[in-house]
Amino acid sequence: MPGRTWELCLLLLLGLGSQAALPPPCESLIYCHGELLHQVQMARLYQDDKHFVDMPLSSTPDKVLQRFWELSQAYNHSIPKQKLQEFLKDHFQDVGQELQSWTPGDWKDSPQFLQKISDTKLRVWAGQLHQLWKKLGKKIKPEVLNHPEQFSLIYLNHPFIVPGGRFVESYYWDSYWVMEGLLLSEMAETVKGMLQNFLDLVKIYGHIPNGGRVYYLQRSQPPLLTLMMARYLSHTNDTAFLQENIETLALELDFWTQNRSVSVNFGGKNYILNRYYVPYGGPRPESYSKDAELADTLPEGDREALWAELKAGAESGWDFSSRWLIGGPNLTSLSSIRTSKLVPVDLNAFLCQAEELMSNFYARLGNDAQATKYRTLRAQRLATMNALLWDEEKGAWFDYDLENGKKNLQFYPSNLAPLWAGCFSDPVVADKALKYLEDSQILTYQYGIPTSLQKTGQQWDFPNAWAPLQDLVIRGLAKSLSPRTQEVAFQLAQNWIRTNFDVYSQKSAMYEKYDITNGGKPGGGGEYEVQEGFGWTNGVVLMLLDRYGDRLTSGTQLAFLEPHCLVAALLLNFLLSLLPW
Ligand SMILES: *[C@@H]1O[C@H](CO)[C@@H](O)[C@H](O)[C@H]1NC(C)=O
Ligand SMILES: *[C@@H]1O[C@H](CO)[C@@H](O)[C@H](O)[C@H]1NC(C)=O
Ligand SMILES: *[C@@H]1O[C@H](CO)[C@@H](O)[C@H](O)[C@H]1NC(C)=O
Ligand SMILES: *[C@@H]1O[C@H](CO)[C@@H](O)[C@H](O)[C@H]1NC(C)=O
Repeated sequence: MPGRTWELCLLLLLGLGSQAALPPPCESLIYCHGELLHQVQMARLYQDDKHFVDMPLSSTPDKVLQRFWELSQAYNHSIPKQKLQEFLKDHFQDVGQELQSWTPGDWKDSPQFLQKISDTKLRVWAGQLHQLWKKLGKKIKPEVLNHPEQFSLIYLNHPFIVPGGRFVESYYWDSYWVMEGLLLSEMAETVKGMLQNFLDLVKIYGHIPNGGRVYYLQRSQPPLLTLMMARYLSHTNDTAFLQENIETLALELDFWTQNRSVSVNFGGKNYILNRYYVPYGGPRPESYSKDAELADTLPEGDREALWAELKAGAESGWDFSSRWLIGGPNLTSLSSIRTSKLVPVDLNAFLCQAEELMSNFYARLGNDAQATKYRTLRAQRLATMNALLWDEEKGAWFDYDLENGKKNLQFYPSNLAPLWAGCFSDPVVADKALKYLEDSQILTYQYGIPTSLQKTGQQWDFPNAWAPLQDLVIRGLAKSLSPRTQEVAFQLAQNWIRTNFDVYSQKSAMYEKYDITNGGKPGGGGEYEVQEGFGWTNGVVLMLLDRYGDRLTSGTQLAFLEPHCLVAALLLNFLLSLLPW
């Protein structure tokens, strides 16, 4: 088998050439590591590196690699751009060939929740967002099942809803907010299919990859699978489905326990919490040239560690943010990234919630031993988060810096994630959280809650605001028993709805993120252009319209409709009217 011999030879040669201490993100010598990927990505043939790694092959990997090897030798390992372009034309297919659009079978006109929305314009808009599920539906063609080696796309049995824009495949944490929207749209069958896809991935890989491509395989995303199941169950009461899959849910949590735990010594005691951590080397294939360029600014010995930290940043969902640069030498340089050195509040809140849900699931299925196990895990995590992450004086939780042995006291909406996740024992924390937001002057932002107060040019920083982070804060505060805190939750919902609605009115599009300066507009910064679609943004808008539909308005909001401001404004008006002109 000459092809095999070639491949082996190639592997050996490449192995000798590279100094990779960490394994590559997947075995593919086309999509994940090796000279072909390197030469193509460093030639920057496309504006976005994701383009190349999404292209299907037109023949077998062996043939493509052999042809590449010949070409590369002919040009002494530096193939001219034009020859590379010809090579791609001959051996690869255009992107998107392997996906087809899909109209969900359970989509229907006029789901009931639309009737709860009083404001006519908002109701019409919600109807248009409901229509968007048909645009965002995707199905994988059978070719991918039959010849997986010719695609970077991972085959999934069931169709799904994608985020949109460059994100044409399935993504993990995005899907939670998409599912919330789908359930309001009465599309539980679509949700079930998406859940089945994720459960299948856990069965095959032991965890859920960041997204549905081989180059995402070794990193996950914020763990929301258990919550997805809980939401599906609350709409369907499909206990049989839970029974069938409870062990797979447990397996996913085992991945976080076995592969993402970290021990923290604090005040003479050892605590176990979780972190984002991806010990795999090489530049991220879908952002290859950027990662390679960034690594060039560092000594050779530090590059593998940088790439691992970038992947951990991607695993956190916050790619990228000053949140993962804090404590390093330079807050605005991505080369300072140290994601795995921080114990994130949100990750631990999500796991705390998952443990509670698992305990409830097992109780529902009559398995008391497992129910007790998860109840204990949750209690331990709650105590640890209280000891390590909670700050009584500030009234919020903070990421813990493992190397510097202290909390990161900067503002991020994730600092309130335990509220949202129900990971607290005394409901009064919601009111402390409100005071925390006031003290941090977060309520002065009228168009959405900023991702941080640091302006770094990264997309998970000021002035960008993201839908899931609005949800964390809004539904967190809404858990308060105090009417004032609940009212602030409503006001924040109104702010976000107005921003989304105003931008939609101008652009007829929904975006993955918004810039909250200057009245709200599509967000910017980071590694790629702002994307339209957009799964989780639509999901969060539908949730807010469902929850507050009787009160939300589309009209210009006087932000100063706060009672004090209103009185002051009326008074001022009255005084002005007394003046002689
Ligand atoms: C091939 O390239 C290397 C450096 O990249 C150079 O040292 C060598 O002389 C080249 N060989 C030929 C035959 O051009
Ligand atoms: C859900 O199903 C279980 C049995 O599978 C039943 O006992 C329970 O009453 C159902 N609950 C609702 C809200 O329908
Ligand atoms: C998780 O850790 C085990 C060993 O503890 C390892 O075999 C496995 O590959 C790891 N999984 C991932 C996705 O890193
Ligand atoms: C920090 O990094 C940025 C971007 O790479 C650079 O412009 C700036 O000069 C750096 N600052 C310091 C103090 O090194």
